[in-house]
Amino acid sequence: MEGQAYGISKYPDVEAINAGLRELTRLPMQPIRREAMAGYLDYFEKKCRRSKELNEEAKKYIPGGVQHNLAFNYPFPLAVEKAEGAWLWDSDGNRYIDLLQAGGPTVLGSNYAPLREKVAEVVGQSGPVTGLFHEYELKLAKLITGYMPAVEMFRMLGSGTEGVMAAIRAARAFTHKKYVLKMGGAYHGWSDQMVYGMHIPGTGRLESTGIPRGATSATQEFFPNDLGALRRKMIANRFRGGTAAVIVEPLGPESGTRPTPLGFHARLRELCDEFGALLIFDEVVTGFRIGMGGAQGYFGVKPDLTVFGKCVTGGYPMAGGVGGRRDVISTFAAGIGGSGERAYIGGTLSANPLSCVAGYVALTEMERTGAPILAGRAGDRLAAGLQAIIKKRCLPFVAFNQGSIVHLESSAVMLLDLRNPLKVMREMKARRRMIEEMGAAFMSQGIVSLAGSRLYTSMADTDEVIDEALAKFDIVLSTVEGAA
Ligand SMILES: Cc1ncc(COP(=O)(O)O)c(C=O)c1O
Repeated sequence: MEGQAYGISKYPDVEAINAGLRELTRLPMQPIRREAMAGYLDYFEKKCRRSKELNEEAKKYIPGGVQHNLAFNYPFPLAVEKAEGAWLWDSDGNRYIDLLQAGGPTVLGSNYAPLREKVAEVVGQSGPVTGLFHEYELKLAKLITGYMPAVEMFRMLGSGTEGVMAAIRAARAFTHKKYVLKMGGAYHGWSDQMVYGMHIPGTGRLESTGIPRGATSATQEFFPNDLGALRRKMIANRFRGGTAAVIVEPLGPESGTRPTPLGFHARLRELCDEFGALLIFDEVVTGFRIGMGGAQGYFGVKPDLTVFGKCVTGGYPMAGGVGGRRDVISTFAAGIGGSGERAYIGGTLSANPLSCVAGYVALTEMERTGAPILAGRAGDRLAAGLQAIIKKRCLPFVAFNQGSIVHLESSAVMLLDLRNPLKVMREMKARRRMIEEMGAAFMSQGIVSLAGSRLYTSMADTDEVIDEALAKFDIVLSTVEGAA
């Protein structure tokens, strides 16, 4: 493992983190004190009037008032007007430190000017789409195969969700086997077969409203990081159609919310080989964010297929794809100008000049500037600062980071354990509420987070920005019930 080439300077102590998280879910919740919360909510009423007005109007035309879940925030979504580097501005002119970074894609910081300018130049010439081949498709594919150790060929698609769908289809087409095993709690997009065991391990079809049973009948989950449980499922599958693929988020479900220990991936690789299943790394979050070689480069383990999204276009639209072994990926090309069984995939806007030039320039700039490493350093500073605040305030909360992906667990709703179903039923709603409030409190102090518990850093996060963020986190954490 080459520490310097990657944004993870030191792999977290997974055992200690898990012990802390177990204790956090065992203890009673410590939400923000009621009077303090009322003060935080007052901010939105007084200072975010334009956002509120726009949201009221949007609710008439857009289901729920926002077009995707990242944008939903309690008490109402902010309308964002301007983004630059580490900062966002809402339509009332309030400024925020941007620790959402669009959910992960913008390791260079928001709205990075050299990228924007090059995209504008290419789009100025060819427009955003022609439906025909553009040289930047080749440039981007070549670049990715150069960076990612396990990617010999790359197929560009429109989103991470599509990348996962394609990877699974290729795995089934190649192996002629049936089942796909995912780690419980992981997010692999919203395709029919993957809305299964989401957020909380063991929940199976809990969130599968509108999805026929047949669509998830060949999807299975195993408890996070439990290779014994995985092996047992693969043995059982041998007698009923076999395991086509095992798919994991390499840092652990939900971007490492339950972190995966070192050594896991090599053993997972062996297990897949033993059973003739393909190993899929979903690197939608980790791909290029933790380093140009992704998690596969960092852990030194080669998956058969790799799914891309987010960073692959530096935050520009149509961010997705799948890469991997030439023989497996070639199932997408069989039948094009030749013969053979073809795994069908498509997409009118897939791989257009806009997304391909954006990806090419974003990735070359990330390598040139060392953005993943700089973002990782900011993540280290942020996590260390949060740990110090938690200690000072005598709170049971848990903060840790895997480079530029920082977790601040206070309600630990996603860490509830279904092996104690009564507790889950009793506490799920209240813990969800608590984390929504935490996100609102942070926002009122000028910090945008992902759902109050995840923070993505970027190259634009200087020490000054992180220290300013920490002072704001301290204000909120000082108002938690029981805080010293
Ligand atoms: C690990 C992982 N896989 C897949 C996806 C789906 O990607 P998209 O939102 O581009 O469809 C996400 C999105 O957050 C993700 O985090």
